Amino acid sequence: MVDRVPTGIEGLDEMLGGGFLKKRHVMVVGGPGTGKTTFGLEFLYRGALLGDKGLMVLLEEKPEKLIENMSQGLDWKLQEQVDNGSIVLVSVDCFNWERLSDTLQAYVTRHNVNRVVIDTLTLLKMNTEDPFEFRRNIVGLIGFLEGLDCTVLFTAEAPYATREGAEYSLEEFMVDGVISLYNIPIKNERRRALEVVKMRGVRHSNAMYPFKITKSGIVVYREEII
Ligand SMILES: Nc1ncnc2c1ncn2[C@@H]1O[C@H](COP(=O)(O)OP(=O)(O)OP(=O)(O)O)[C@@H](O)[C@H]1O
Ligand SMILES: [Mg+2]
Repeated sequence: MVDRVPTGIEGLDEMLGGGFLKKRHVMVVGGPGTGKTTFGLEFLYRGALLGDKGLMVLLEEKPEKLIENMSQGLDWKLQEQVDNGSIVLVSVDCFNWERLSDTLQAYVTRHNVNRVVIDTLTLLKMNTEDPFEFRRNIVGLIGFLEGLDCTVLFTAEAPYATREGAEYSLEEFMVDGVISLYNIPIKNERRRALEVVKMRGVRHSNAMYPFKITKSGIVVYREEII
């Protein structure tokens, strides 16, 4: 039995029979504003409350900006977890693969990190012209992080809003797990929903459930069907 790493997201661990598998990699994919960054950060925040150490690699935001944005909607004590070193936020600009590996290696070993979030994989892809090189680098990165005993969450941007419009790319096939976030237009508003598209080695729920981003974080409503 592989150990589980609970996401701590209300309603999601029940869908996964306890959480992610330890040392595996999961991609959270969704359109703009679907909650990808919130999801990634909550994975680290809930982990920090359990004593885990988390590292978030930011490719499009500065740590201060992220904390500022997240503090608007969430009443988490995020700054406290950052100050006590349970969550480390690092922004990587002028991206290249060597620099990313070096950064990861340095932070993971120095801070004893066991949960890693990379926000977003899409930017790594955009910065790598050759798809074969991208694939080789991702496989290398995943293996490297597994060797460091980390459970990894990648966020990725999807150009679609609904399940029907979903198009899958190389990354979805490479990772151990895929969770899709949607923001579905229904009448004059949008409703958030999520589904576990795949999770290797896990018997998971196949239903699409509504969720909300509340002041205490993401809440999945498993008693409702969208
Ligand atoms: N407590 C809250 N209640 C309602 N909405 C919230 C709350 N906290 C955040 N939001 C909204 O949730 C959305 C999700 O933000 P988040 O940054 O996680 O999404 P994202 O998928 O990473 O977006 P992007 O595509 O811009 O990277 C934002 O539009 C934000 O305003
Ligand atoms: Mg984001």
